[in-house]
Amino acid sequence: MAVRISEVYFEHHRLALGIGESEPRISWRFEGDAGNWTQDGYTIEILRASQSSPETFEIGSPDSSLVPWPTVSLNSTESATVRVKASGEGDHPDTVWSDPVTVETGLLNDQDWSGALMIAADRETEFNATHRPILLRNDFTLDSPISSARLYITAYGMYEAYFNGARVGTNVLAPGWQSYHYRHVYDTYDVTGLLLQGKNAIGIHVGEGWYSGRIGFETERNLYGDTLAAMALLVVTGQDGTKQYIRTDESWASAFGAVITSEIYDGETYDSRLEKKGWSEPDYHTTDGAGDWIGVKQLEAPYGRLFAPDGPPIRRIEEVTLKKMITSPSGKTILDFGQNLVGWLRLNVTGPEGQSIKMVHTEVLENGEVATRPLRTAKQTDNVTLSTEPLEWEPTFTYHGFRYVEVTGWPGETVLGPDSIKAIVVHSDMEETGSFECSNSLLNKLHSNVKWSMKGNFMSVPTDCPQRDERLGWTGDAHAFSPTANFLYDTSGFWRGWLKDAQSEQLARNGVPPVVVPNVPAVDNVGPTAVWGDVIVANPWNAYNSFGDLQDLEAQYQGAKAWLDTGIPRNEMGMWNRSVFQYGDWLDPLSPPEDAGAATTDATYVADAYLVYVTGLVEKMATALGLVDEAIQYQTAASDLKRKFIQTRMNADGIVQNETQTGLTLPLYFNLFPSAEQTAAAAQRLDNIIIANKYLVGTGFAGTHLLGLTLTKHNLTDTFYQMLLQTTVPSWLYQVVMDGTTTWERWDSLLPDGSVNPGSMTSFNHYAFGSVANWIYQTIGGLSPAEPGWKTTKVQPIPGGDITEAKASYLSPYGRVSSEWEVDSTGFHLTVVVPPNAFAEVILPLSGGTSQRVGSGTHTFEVPELADWVDVGQ
Ligand code: BGC
Repeated sequence: MAVRISEVYFEHHRLALGIGESEPRISWRFEGDAGNWTQDGYTIEILRASQSSPETFEIGSPDSSLVPWPTVSLNSTESATVRVKASGEGDHPDTVWSDPVTVETGLLNDQDWSGALMIAADRETEFNATHRPILLRNDFTLDSPISSARLYITAYGMYEAYFNGARVGTNVLAPGWQSYHYRHVYDTYDVTGLLLQGKNAIGIHVGEGWYSGRIGFETERNLYGDTLAAMALLVVTGQDGTKQYIRTDESWASAFGAVITSEIYDGETYDSRLEKKGWSEPDYHTTDGAGDWIGVKQLEAPYGRLFAPDGPPIRRIEEVTLKKMITSPSGKTILDFGQNLVGWLRLNVTGPEGQSIKMVHTEVLENGEVATRPLRTAKQTDNVTLSTEPLEWEPTFTYHGFRYVEVTGWPGETVLGPDSIKAIVVHSDMEETGSFECSNSLLNKLHSNVKWSMKGNFMSVPTDCPQRDERLGWTGDAHAFSPTANFLYDTSGFWRGWLKDAQSEQLARNGVPPVVVPNVPAVDNVGPTAVWGDVIVANPWNAYNSFGDLQDLEAQYQGAKAWLDTGIPRNEMGMWNRSVFQYGDWLDPLSPPEDAGAATTDATYVADAYLVYVTGLVEKMATALGLVDEAIQYQTAASDLKRKFIQTRMNADGIVQNETQTGLTLPLYFNLFPSAEQTAAAAQRLDNIIIANKYLVGTGFAGTHLLGLTLTKHNLTDTFYQMLLQTTVPSWLYQVVMDGTTTWERWDSLLPDGSVNPGSMTSFNHYAFGSVANWIYQTIGGLSPAEPGWKTTKVQPIPGGDITEAKASYLSPYGRVSSEWEVDSTGFHLTVVVPPNAFAEVILPLSGGTSQRVGSGTHTFEVPELADWVDVGQ
């Protein structure tokens, strides 16, 4: 196999069913060991469902990522089958045709919903209380044999749909959370296999979700509306080509089911005795026997803001087996899953009718009991009441962050153990792209913990935490973590959707992004803040670096500019107005438990440093977009701000206002010192501070993600290795040796004596400090994009610490690129694999920065001199 196309995809979709782009750009990845293979052209074959013969387009171009749709746009609901082959440059072989892949658009216009109504139960909604989930149902008859069927559906709340008793699709917590005021996602399902000619029934279960549930610390609810509702259109194409449309309308019926409450923070109460058996099957009578069905009423539909998803849906991704059962000091039964995870339990249980099982989910134990205090007002409690029948149960419209579950009321008839109870992990179903492993098992565990915190917090929006009464799209956290996220998973679609919301919210607030996206009233009063607001510049730029999508960058550029032009309140010098509130270097290790913002580095100093940085990023964006005048404008602004930073934040010797880890990291990383000498001196002082601090971390949210990158940039990689390998608090591995299985909000969420930090912000699943994985991939693994989109990879592993071997890989838009190295008594040995149509610039240790450019294939490199100065423990 010299070279083949391993995967063809459209825009940033893993599955291109019901997409919103009528001219979807096409990308393909390669596989194969062909050396120095480059593409000089490609052929795309497109067979539209409406045509009998394909169109073929031969294009002479090396591009294989996000190439333009070569023909007329797709109409609404139109599908096409696409395959691609690529021709090798010169005498390099061509690929064979890729497997055919289908792309299908969703409902591109409001009219395409063919009059579907947003329907709710015809009764008064709950006032200032949780909304009990509702069932909506209808019967319909299909006249002819079915060729294909699509369900388009969304809800005011979360939905699960059924046909004839069978669940539609695998999405959970659908349609996810968006800034529904601007963008309300609908999902598309292929339901051909669920329908029958003749009688059918459709059922939709709707819960409050983010739409009208309690969101944001206390009692706030009904953020977007106060009534649960759903809207659906079923389009059935008969074998004779006829189309039948079934839509939500006023002929539907509604009732309550067995779920009494299901709330994001608080959990679910379910009574199996209240199941309406057969409610989504035909021949179910809503009038006799099951008496409490009522009619429906129409709500205003979200026309004008209905969109196909950009990112993947939330799904059940994996199952975790029960590891241990504990009897607590007070005699409680506690399940330990061995992993702090996000999702819920699946029970298989039989017991006496009316028996209630209560499950309280927590991340940690304190004094041997489940520690509920860090959850603040979130209950994370499920209650299940049994009927006479065996029950397989999972909650529907809630999720929990937990490792431990206290169970009470478990019936004696079923053995409580791994066979009767499992943990189900759910998150946005992104493709895994990064892998890392090295000879240090603690670092491997840290990498795993970082990944688990990403899984737990990429829940349709990037949340701060998954367990307490918060779970909000905090922008500062997302800013710090995004480069790491972009290594671990293909986040392109995920960011694309979220950044659309960020920009919509921002542009409606004079260019000021809310501190959480989607915005919520609980924190709407927080004005513009650096680092958090800077997400509107940094994340589009980081995404562009990883995925190379200029179109996305262009879409996001407007928001980035608005932040600089109108969002940031300035003083007379054009720097941040110092009187506005700043989060600053949030949660640095010295911030006291009761005051997370009381950092050792001044918050306005942090803000000004970031201001220079993001102004420079907007200049880079403008340059990438070919906006020459604007690039000059922002370049001038950035140099001017840099001058003012020097003037106001440093003395003539380059001593900065706060000679702290963050205080020096920021100007060093952002190139803010006036001269090379002062830069070198500042790097030296940073090193000294770290050494004086016994290599322990001194940074919070603003500094941590840049600390390692800064030290490496200034040839202090050894110092950072030492920091990374510390195991006492505050350090990354402290959490690992304290049995952490995720990354924590605070450096010491768990105190050295095993007790839980007394602060009210004590999550065990926050990803911001896991941002160090970006450095791990770039420096230990040695991989980073040398140009946006990874056409060329920079491979520059820098060995250090006690690490004798490491390997990292990244599934780039071209295919998998990897590096693997080892140090032994004969030297440093590196193997680099580059996918076809891509390149690598390899910079070896001790090479003084000289790079060697290689094409696709497997390449090995040796640095024999390295054996002498690395202690490999032999
Ligand atoms: C969140 C953080 C967030 C912060 C704002 C907290 O409640 O959990 O992660 O960034 O507020 O500073």
